[in-house]
Amino acid sequence: MSKIAKFFKAIQLIIQKPYLLNNVLKDEIVSKESFERTFANVSFRQIRLVDLMESEEVKIAPYAFLSGSSLATDFALLQLLCQKFEVKDYLEIGTWRGESAANVAPFVDRVTTFNLGDEQLLSLGLPEDYVASHRFFSKDVANIQHVFGDSQSFDFHQLNQRFDLIFIDGDHSTEAVRDDTKKLSAFLKNEKSILVWHDAKVDTEYPRYEVLRGIYEGLPAEMLKHVYLVENSLCAVYLPFDIPSETIQINRLPRTTFELTLKKLPLTEK
Ligand SMILES: C[S@@+](CC[C@H](N)C(=O)[O-])C[C@H]1O[C@@H](n2cnc3c(N)ncnc32)[C@H](O)[C@@H]1O
Repeated sequence: MSKIAKFFKAIQLIIQKPYLLNNVLKDEIVSKESFERTFANVSFRQIRLVDLMESEEVKIAPYAFLSGSSLATDFALLQLLCQKFEVKDYLEIGTWRGESAANVAPFVDRVTTFNLGDEQLLSLGLPEDYVASHRFFSKDVANIQHVFGDSQSFDFHQLNQRFDLIFIDGDHSTEAVRDDTKKLSAFLKNEKSILVWHDAKVDTEYPRYEVLRGIYEGLPAEMLKHVYLVENSLCAVYLPFDIPSETIQINRLPRTTFELTLKKLPLTEK
């Protein structure tokens, strides 16, 4: 199809389905250019997942390999951070199937996982089966507490708690990431507490500017000095201390390889 034919086809489709405009506005090339105009000379630093591994093995369970799930290395990162930094109180925004909550639960004292309630999800027109999949893995885990609401309007003072690690994995639009980041960083327990953002990369190599912009707009400059992407994962972290890091390099040759053993686990319907 010629460029002109593509142009008229695209216009026709946008007139028929205006929501397709979001694909242009949220395109990563557009987000990258806009990010670089606002935050000139930022070069993202990256830390290595393997540097956090004190033993050879990390067991990821549960892991459903379903659509939209985090990567196994994202759950490994959360587990490793919880162990290495002795996280007792963990908060996450975005429960969905409860997979991340269930993965960290064995390594912390208390997990608080926050999500829009089922009624709210249904009122947004989301499919019933999607809504029913919420909390599948977390609902019967003793040290997991579920809290419901919209993170954009919820008053987190109600929880009467502060956290050693806060995982931000709810709405990934720039504005929501910015507001979640700004609001929740006030609930970190102390100067050693950690923030983790999911989907700060589009894949394990390429930054996701839509989310990174939210992080950069949400944190003060002195905290941004300690924000890192994490190699082999989709995450970014705020670690309030010095840790070896390097500039990201796309298309580098593999320098780490992992072994995965798939073990089928029984699922009991409760
Ligand atoms: C990517 S999923 C979370 C996945 C989960 N952390 C995991 O790794 O297993 C994002 C979840 O955030 C929820 N969510 C989106 N916007 C939200 C908001 N404003 N407040 C609370 N929850 C929200 C969605 O309902 C969805 O279940």
